[in-house]
Amino acid sequence: MQLCVALDLPSAEENLALARSLSGYDIWMKVGFRSYIRDGKEFLEALKAINPDFKIFLDLKLYDIPNTMADAAEEIAKLGIDMFNIHASAGAKAMREVMERLSKFENRPLVLAVTALTSFDNGSFETIYGKSIDEKAEEFARMSYENGLDGVVCSAFESRAIKSVTGEGFMTLCPGIRPFGEDAGDQQRVATLETAAQELVDFPVIGRPIYKDPEPAVKVARIMEIIS
Ligand code: C5P
Repeated sequence: MQLCVALDLPSAEENLALARSLSGYDIWMKVGFRSYIRDGKEFLEALKAINPDFKIFLDLKLYDIPNTMADAAEEIAKLGIDMFNIHASAGAKAMREVMERLSKFENRPLVLAVTALTSFDNGSFETIYGKSIDEKAEEFARMSYENGLDGVVCSAFESRAIKSVTGEGFMTLCPGIRPFGEDAGDQQRVATLETAAQELVDFPVIGRPIYKDPEPAVKVARIMEIIS
């Protein structure tokens, strides 16, 4: 598994201080709406300046008409980040157009599709999507695989089933990980690291349990011991 740390703190300074404290680790940094909207491209550059080996996952969850998504994907690829995501519910055509547009890049970023947000419980998910989370997540994963994406964002509980209906190397990235049973916050479907490993998760995403810890670097050291 490869640890992905969510940089969701209220200021660039705090996020960069967190990144600096973790600079000795071979980990992924997840830059989401909050940081990217506020701090932009300079923030990505500042992260790389701390450790050029940090891998960057730009979590912007694109969802629009296919052409607009492909345009955005191209601009994202030019930023030189390593992975980004789109919403699977944007559909197969959007997936194909995004992947086709990225094919001109020699080192294109990995592209994942969000299946079901981990903040949904079954009832609220079904109201919108008309199917259970399990069923729809598998359907979205198959669609993503068939249209050339590299993996999906899902909860740890769908990871194994998704692997069985897609192909070798198709990746799962799973937020809602509470490594040592920490507070779930607004997440509905949370899993420990042990469960994530059992369910064949490739990227556990961890935010609050790390950045709200009084000693984030110590917490990451404990996590890395389990992961490696
Ligand atoms: O603090 P916590 O560990 O819950 O952070 C999870 C991170 O993963 C947040 O940045 C959230 O936006 C993101 N995320 C999520 N569920 C998804 C996709 C991304 O929680 N399906």
